[in-house]
Amino acid sequence: MMMKVFVAAALAVATLAASVQGQAPAPSPAGLPKYPLMQPALPYPYSAQEPLIDNTTQMLHWSKHLATYYENVNKAIMPFPALQVLTVEQMMPAAGTSAVPMNISKAVRNNAGGVYNHLLFFKILMPATAATNASNNSMLPQQVGQAINQTFGNYTVFKKNFTEAALSVFGSGWAWLTVAKNGSLAIETTPNQDNPLMVGAGYSGNQPILGIDVWEHAYYLKRQNRRPEYIMAWWYVVNWPQVNMNYMAATSGNKTMITSYASS
Ligand SMILES: *[C@@H]1O[C@H](CO)[C@@H](O)[C@H](O)[C@H]1NC(C)=O
Ligand SMILES: *[C@@H]1O[C@H](CO)[C@@H](O)[C@H](O)[C@H]1NC(C)=O
Ligand SMILES: *[C@@H]1O[C@H](CO)[C@@H](O)[C@H](O)[C@H]1NC(C)=O
Ligand SMILES: *[C@@H]1O[C@H](CO)[C@@H](O)[C@H](O)[C@H]1NC(C)=O
Ligand SMILES: *[C@@H]1O[C@H](CO)[C@@H](O)[C@H](O)[C@H]1NC(C)=O
Ligand SMILES: *[C@@H]1O[C@H](CO)[C@@H](O)[C@H](O)[C@H]1NC(C)=O
Ligand SMILES: *[C@@H]1O[C@H](CO)[C@@H](O)[C@H](O)[C@H]1NC(C)=O
Ligand SMILES: *[C@@H]1O[C@H](CO)[C@@H](O)[C@H](O)[C@H]1NC(C)=O
Ligand SMILES: *[C@@H]1O[C@H](CO)[C@@H](O)[C@H](O)[C@H]1NC(C)=O
Ligand SMILES: [Fe+2]
Repeated sequence: MMMKVFVAAALAVATLAASVQGQAPAPSPAGLPKYPLMQPALPYPYSAQEPLIDNTTQMLHWSKHLATYYENVNKAIMPFPALQVLTVEQMMPAAGTSAVPMNISKAVRNNAGGVYNHLLFFKILMPATAATNASNNSMLPQQVGQAINQTFGNYTVFKKNFTEAALSVFGSGWAWLTVAKNGSLAIETTPNQDNPLMVGAGYSGNQPILGIDVWEHAYYLKRQNRRPEYIMAWWYVVNWPQVNMNYMAATSGNKTMITSYASS
């Protein structure tokens, strides 16, 4: 046991040193602490959403912005072994509770939130295809499609409401489609890198299954201040089969898969 902890600590230090030097650190063997949290590989090229979301924006967004959230959350929890065994899903709602020391509570909230939110954001994107264009016209997978019909009447109403929510975010933040404990859907918005799973601030505790990042870094390079144009383009590259899987995960229990990537 002591040996295991020692090996893990040595590994953590070694991998952190490696990542400081810009090399890809080796993943933690199963069963050892999660520290440092490691950014997975993006399962599609940065250009996959061209021309709707451009290559350079996706490259900067994934390899700089998201990487910085990883770096900063790892830095914040470096002095706290008790936090280093947590997954980001566990750590994020702990910020603001006594589980996270006060002097890093803001850093954990913003950066663990940033990690979680971006993993979800990139996971539900795909290239624009005939299928995504069809889903733009309401051909959604069965389960989430029915749930959308039940809550909003039809896809058109849902899309309009969600778009309005995303437009209404003041400054930087997110709009979400979430699943409540009883399985019903809701549209919610959060500021900064918050999300509905966070503790406090009147958040629902609902599980997000679809989210759009409306920070300017998500669209400014190609579209400057034209957030409405970015949102319309984004609808064409939403991976509805993945959102459907997220919906089923949210209603049937395995929420881990919503932000997991094959390489992590
Ligand atoms: C996307 O950007 C990367 C790195 O910036 C570049 O190497 C690649 O050629 C670009 N691909 C396309 C399809 O534009
Ligand atoms: C928070 O406090 C710990 C000691 O309890 C210290 O090691 C760490 O550097 C502090 N972090 C910040 C961001 O002040
Ligand atoms: C889907 O629609 C987008 C936006 O109009 C367009 O750029 C793209 O070429 C279309 N793709 C297919 C396969 O129809
Ligand atoms: C996508 O949906 C919008 C309405 O929400 C419609 O105006 C547009 O023609 C649709 N585009 C495609 C390629 O089906
Ligand atoms: C949702 O309702 C529309 C009619 O408004 C219907 O065409 C569509 O098939 C329904 N979707 C599902 C998955 O039941
Ligand atoms: C959708 O938006 C309309 C108009 O803003 C509102 O009346 C309605 O309650 C919203 N529906 C849902 C399910 O959020
Ligand atoms: C969706 O529902 C709204 C409100 O009931 C209705 O006005 C609209 O015609 C419906 N659209 C479709 C495509 O069914
Ligand atoms: C499900 O729960 C939400 C609150 O989380 C509530 O607003 C909604 O009315 C409930 N729906 C049903 C069908 O019970
Ligand atoms: C939940 O999903 C994750 C990722 O897909 C998987 O690794 C894990 O084994 C699943 N857990 C259960 C209990 O099915
Ligand atoms: Fe972002």
